[in-house]
Amino acid sequence: MDAKVDISQVVLETERLILRAWKQSDLQDFYEYASVDGVGQMAGWLPHENIEKSQMILDKFIEMKLTFALVDKQTGKVIGSLGLESCERNHLKEPYDSLLGREIGYVLSKDYWGKGLMPEAVKRVIQYAFEEAKMDFLTCGHFNENNQSRRVIEKCGFQYLKDTEFTTRTNEVKQGKLYILMNK
Ligand SMILES: CC(C)(COP(=O)(O)OP(=O)(O)OC[C@H]1O[C@@H](n2cnc3c(N)ncnc32)[C@H](O)[C@@H]1OP(=O)(O)O)[C@@H](O)C(=O)NCCC(=O)NCCS
Repeated sequence: MDAKVDISQVVLETERLILRAWKQSDLQDFYEYASVDGVGQMAGWLPHENIEKSQMILDKFIEMKLTFALVDKQTGKVIGSLGLESCERNHLKEPYDSLLGREIGYVLSKDYWGKGLMPEAVKRVIQYAFEEAKMDFLTCGHFNENNQSRRVIEKCGFQYLKDTEFTTRTNEVKQGKLYILMNK
């Protein structure tokens, strides 16, 4: 079952990042990384073809209150997103179907890949989800070919749960793997 989440007033800090709710003033930073080829495709969406597309998604982030903006502490720039999305599309069975959880989804600006920033952000969100939001579990998944995301998932301690199919935002069905982390 989906845990109730509202991150609109939540601010989390790590060594190099601030995680906070999205603001309208983040639009330019969002478009800058979301329009780069080869980023969104790995998460199932196409590069934003214009700033209106970014505006539409930004409005959804603000309205839904599930997605953090990742702010680079050094520059104040928004360089990625991390969402606590619905886990219901995974059709989890006993015992997870009666527990409260969410699915983590994330994207980082290409310029910042390979510095361990996303594992740093995910670990902080795991702590928030388990200690503050009192969730029982978190899931996270990746398309089979997405080794970068697989490494983030492994480094954050998730365990393989099952093979799964993901329907992308462009309605393509892709094979992937789903992982779970339990709140001990
Ligand atoms: C997945 C993603 C968030 C990883 O973030 P990150 O902060 O770069 O994560 P890490 O620094 O821990 O790197 C993860 C792996 O990516 C690989 N990698 C690092 N830099 C890379 C680069 N420039 N190009 C290709 N692969 C790279 C490495 O194999 C690394 O694993 P390792 O630490 O075992 O060597 C980022 O690659 C991304 O935003 N990808 C596009 C969107 C996406 O895939 N979202 C997840 C959908 S499930």
